[in-house]
Order: sequence, then C-alpha cells, then structure tokens
Amino acid sequence: MNAPSTVDPTPVEAVRLADPYPFYARLVAERPFAFDEALGAWVAADAAAVRAVLGAGALRVRPVAEPVPAGIAGTAAGEVFGELVRMTDGAAAVRLKGVVAQALARADLGRAAALAARFTGEALAGGGEVPYGELMFGVPARVVAALSGLADGADRAAARAIADFVRCIPATATPADQRAAAGAAVRLRELLGPSLASASAAPLGEGDTANGLLRELVAAAERSGWAHPGPLLSNAIGFLSQTYDATAGLIGNTLVALARGAGTPDTGALVREVVRHDAPVQNTRRFAAGAFTHAGSTVEPGQQVLVLLAAANRDPAVNPDPHTLSPGRVNPTVFTFGAGAHRCPGGELAAVLATAVVDGVRRAGWSTTATPAYRPLANARIPLL
Ligand code: HEM
Repeated sequence: MNAPSTVDPTPVEAVRLADPYPFYARLVAERPFAFDEALGAWVAADAAAVRAVLGAGALRVRPVAEPVPAGIAGTAAGEVFGELVRMTDGAAAVRLKGVVAQALARADLGRAAALAARFTGEALAGGGEVPYGELMFGVPARVVAALSGLADGADRAAARAIADFVRCIPATATPADQRAAAGAAVRLRELLGPSLASASAAPLGEGDTANGLLRELVAAAERSGWAHPGPLLSNAIGFLSQTYDATAGLIGNTLVALARGAGTPDTGALVREVVRHDAPVQNTRRFAAGAFTHAGSTVEPGQQVLVLLAAANRDPAVNPDPHTLSPGRVNPTVFTFGAGAHRCPGGELAAVLATAVVDGVRRAGWSTTATPAYRPLANARIPLL
C-alpha cells in the first residue's frame, strides 16, 4: 500500500475541494482501510470497510469518555445533544431510534412537497438576487417545523434557532458557538414543547393534522411502550438539526450538477443520483469502545475512525461506472445516509424537500455557478451559492 503523498489533502480537507473524487478514488484503490497519521484516525474508504465499520458494535457515535461535548455539558444544548438518537448508542437508543424511524416513515411527504414548493415560490417572488441561503437552509427547516405544527412565523423562528443549535455539533465548535447553541436549545424547546404536548393530548385521527409529524412521534412512542417525553422533545429538535446542513448540501449540489450540464427533466431522479455522486454528507465518525478488526487491521479502544461515505459511493466494486452521474441509475449502492444501527431515517423526506426546491428554482429559470467554493465544514459538502 502506498503512503499518502505530501501534496494530498487530508480526507477532512477533501470535503470542500472543487473535486475531491480523484483523491477518494485513490484511497479506495490504494488505502481502503488505513491509519492516517495526519488525522490521527483510521480512515475507511472503500465500500467493504465503510459497511464493516458502520456495522460494528464496538464502534460508537461518541467517545466513551465524552458522551456530550464538554463545552455544552450542563446546558440545554447538552441535554438535547445527549438524548439524540444520532449521538447515543445502547439499548435505550435502539428503542428510541425505532420510535423516531416509525414517525419519519409515516411523515406526510405530499404535504412536505407542497409546503416546500410554496416556501420556494415565496422566496423567489422577492425578485433581485436568488436567495440561495433561504432556499437551501431556510425552506427545508421551515417545512420540518411546519410538519411539527409551527406556523405564523414560529416556523421561521425555528429555522433561525436551528442554525444556532447546529453550531455546537462540530468538534471545532468555539465557546461562542456553544453559547449560541445553548440559547437556541432553550428557544427550540419553547417552540416545539407546546406542539408536542398538544400532539400527546390529541391522538392521531382527531382534530387538525398541523403537527402531524409530532403526532406520529407520539403514536410511535405509545406503540413501542416508550414513556419518556423529554427524549421525544429532544429528537423533535433533532428532526430540524438533522435536516439542516445535509438537505442544504443536497439542494446546493443538485443545483451545481445542473449548472454542470446534468440535463434530465426528472429532478427527483437527479436529486437521488446526486445523493450518491456528490454526497452532501461526505463522512461520519466512529469511536472505538472495544477493539475492531477489518481486513487484517485492528482499531484499538479509544481510537477514531473517519468513515468516507462519499468515497464508498464511488467504489467500483459496488457501483458500475461510479464516476458518471446517471440519474435513474438502477439499484445503486448508496452510503450517504449511513448504514447499520444509525442509518438515516430521513432520506425520503430529504429527497422530497430537495426535489421541490430545485424544481421551483428550475421553473423560475434560475441557474447557478458550476464552480462554487464550499463552506469550510468537516463533513457536510455545501456550496457557497
Ligand atoms: C440529504 C439529507 C440528509 C443526509 C445526507 C443525511 C445523512 C445522515 C447520515 C449519514 C446519518 C448517520 C450518521 C452516522 O451513522 O454517523 C443520519 C442520521 C440521521 N438522520 Fe439524516 N440525513 C439527511 C436528512 C435527514 C432528514 C431530513 C431527517 C429528518 C427530518 C434526518 C434524520 C436523521 C436522524 C434522526 C438520524 C439519526 C439516526 C440514528 O443515529 O440512528 N436526516 N443522517
């Protein structure tokens, strides 16, 4: 196996390169599962390694010694973070994940698409510069807020607050980010708490369906015998935080694909192939609670693994002609939504939201640059449009 060359980016820097894919392809071919000295972490790049890592019980979503980042421990942001299914492992997390996944599986995708189309139309009606920030971040967050029962400006307030909450998630969060997130968590509880309470008071099928997503969450909790309301509220906030950067990246990367000449009229098929071809979430991390061995290499307890979802999507062992953008590709293997116990339960909702926004932009006749810079993030690939 070849050592990385000194001119190579790190796999974290790759996220924001104009074209990280030749670098990823070399990792897949030459270093599919290897320790990266510069990162101080293992890197899983090919499909076999990514699948094995995401399926390994010894590899956890948080370091054992720091379940919640120290800078937000004891704040409302820390309480929410510590209850998110995304950030926890163990028996209770598995049960709660079942509840969250059932609720999202029953989300009203037709209503989501209609709301996204309406909010997109409103954003574009303003004239002047295309409001890409609102289209990529604001519209998806407002739709999820609306599905959770927030209206009349509360949807916008939730979209603003979630922008601050997600600042505590990267390992690079500063004390200012953490303070902003703590305040945002308080606000998000104030916004979503009453909606969750009214969802608990009115069973599904009774009354209006404005907060349908939270009613589904409550109904799924009841079916599963889950009796703790606190974690339900945290994961309702989680719906917004999980939507935020990732869906913005999917919308942005699809607009860039169009600017680069992806000519299909079928926006939905394009969005689903962009998910694979130019993944909005390029990587995720795991932390070893016990030893894990793959292909003769052993990750020791306490070590980290960077999981290159975007590289594995283009592994020729699982997707023929992987570097070609082929809307309508038959049975693609896609790692962008993860795999195993923490697999994303929001993929369909994300695709529906992105399709509605991009369709609105296309109908309005707007196009964007084919060569954007990217936000300086460690895992989400979001063009600056
Ligand atoms: C393009 C958009 C999206 C992408 C690329 C994406 C990607 C991911 C990935 C990679 C994970 C797993 C992380 C890991 O295992 O380390 C994840 C988890 C999750 N996602 Fe998404 N996601 C997207 C949109 C959404 C939306 C719209 C929702 C819900 C409203 C959602 C809800 C969740 C939840 C609840 C989890 C935690 C699952 C668990 O840990 O068991 N996601 N997502």
